[in-house]
Order: sequence, then structure tokens, then C-alpha cells
Amino acid sequence: MRVKNKSIIVTGAGGGIGEGIALRLAAEGARVIVNDINAALGEKVVSEILRAGGDAAFFKADVTKSAEVKALVDAAVQRHGKLDAMVNNAGWTHRNRPALEVSEDEFDRCYAVNVKSIYLSTVHAVPALRANGGGSFINIASTAGVRPRPGLTWYNGSKGAVITTSKSLAAELGPDNIRVNCINPVFNPTTGLATEFAGGELTEERLAKFRATIPLGRFSTSLDVANAALYLASDEAAFISGVCIEVDGARCV
Ligand SMILES: NC(=O)c1ccc[n+]([C@@H]2O[C@H](COP(=O)([O-])OP(=O)(O)OC[C@H]3O[C@@H](n4cnc5c(N)ncnc54)[C@H](O)[C@@H]3O)[C@@H](O)[C@H]2O)c1
Repeated sequence: MRVKNKSIIVTGAGGGIGEGIALRLAAEGARVIVNDINAALGEKVVSEILRAGGDAAFFKADVTKSAEVKALVDAAVQRHGKLDAMVNNAGWTHRNRPALEVSEDEFDRCYAVNVKSIYLSTVHAVPALRANGGGSFINIASTAGVRPRPGLTWYNGSKGAVITTSKSLAAELGPDNIRVNCINPVFNPTTGLATEFAGGELTEERLAKFRATIPLGRFSTSLDVANAALYLASDEAAFISGVCIEVDGARCV
């Protein structure tokens, strides 16, 4: 059990990559708060964890709303007596298309879900982590933040902001024994955002073109990302802070 009894919040864990992270952390002994804006999806993930003998509870919160993020952190501390880690996974993208065609509303939503959420989790979770004598943030950024492709410009920029902000926080919060790291997954075609990233239906032609840019010859899975998150959340990563782990089959080299 690599994260036994650790109190961990996973945002956007009702599906996709977040669900994979919540399941993996729970299987390794973590007490998980499954967060999402979609209660039905989040409750389903909790049921799956409980059925497997793990410990989890659902907490509905919108990561773009300060009061809701505060309530989410408070819920973890109330239930577990502490907070050890927060996985900021909830994310959103505008559909893949020319930068000039993305609306202002879409831009605002992208930055609210992807970037403001990091600000709010920092503001509300750092006091809890300090009270715990330390802990860690695991921010799910993207290969988009280091190797941007056309059509996802505003999303790419938001993930670049996540990466730089995380490194800055690692430098600033180190003296509090708080580690801040990122994971940069490459495309995962099974998730809710996949068709948006691809700019439409996942045709074999579209997938093949993209797959050909990944040296290991396949896309990422939620389990690939979850395994990286498990390492970063565990004490094995006690001296790892300010890094981004590319989970991308060498796409970014
Ligand atoms: N799927 C990929 O190919 C890929 C690649 C690189 C990075 N990422 C990143 O991984 C993360 C997860 O993406 P995914 O593909 O699993 O997406 P997904 O759409 O499958 O899952 C995201 C979950 O977040 C929830 N969510 C959305 N807005 C929220 C909010 N405001 N508050 C709380 N929950 C909210 C959704 O309800 C959903 O359950 C995102 O940060 C995304 O940018 C995904």
C-alpha cells in the first residue's frame, strides 16, 4: 500500500483520467474525496471504490468557485482529520479550431477551469497542508503546455500557465514541506474531452496520424497517468518537487 491512509482530493474524478487516478490511489490505500460537478458520475466512481474495499466519498464542487473549493477542502479535513494531497485534474478545452474562431466565453471557461482552479486550490488547500506539516499538489497539465499543436492555442496556453505556476509554487512552498508537481499526458482517446481535442469524430484516419507522432506507438491511458500520480503522491517522491512528468511515450522529445 503505497499511499496508505493518505487523505487525497481528486478533482474532476467522475470520469476520464480523474476516475483512473481516484481508483488507483484508493487501491493503494488512500482515503479519496472524489470531486466533480456531475454528482451521478462521481457517485458511481465512489461505489466502484467501495465495492473494491477502498475508502472514498463524493463531494460536489465547481473548481472555478472559491466557496465551493473551500468547502471541498474542508470536507476532506473533516472526514479524514487532515489533507495530504490535492490532485487538480478537472480540465476543459475549446474544440480544436483556429485561434480566431474561439469565442471569448470559451476562452474564459478554459482559463477558469484549467488555471483559476489552481489559484483557488492553492488559496484553500495550503492552510490545510501547512497544518498537516506538508503535503503535495499534483496538477494535471498536458503535453499541450510544452509541445503545442495548432488548433488548441488557448487550451495550450492555459496548460503552459499550469506548468509555470506549479514550478513557481514549488519554489515558494518548499519551506512548508509542500511539493508541487505536474503530469503532462499525451492524448487519451477514451476520455470526455477527446473529440474536442481531435476537432471532431475520432476517425481511424485522424487517430493514425496522431499516433504516428508518438514514438512508443500508442496513446496514453488513464492508468498510465494514474501510476505517475500514485508515485508523486507517495513518500517515494518525498524529494521530488517542481517537476513535470511527461506521460507521453516520448512524444515531447
Ligand atoms: N484526455 C486527454 O487526451 C488529455 C491529455 C492531456 C491532458 N488532459 C487533461 O487531463 C484532465 C482530465 O481530462 P479528461 O480528458 O479525463 O476529461 P473528462 O472530460 O473525461 O473528465 C473531466 C471531468 O472533470 C469534470 N469537470 C469539468 N469541469 C469541472 C469543474 N468546473 N469542477 C469540477 N469538475 C469539473 C467533468 O464533469 C468530468 O467528469 C484535464 O485537465 C485535461 O486537460 C487530458
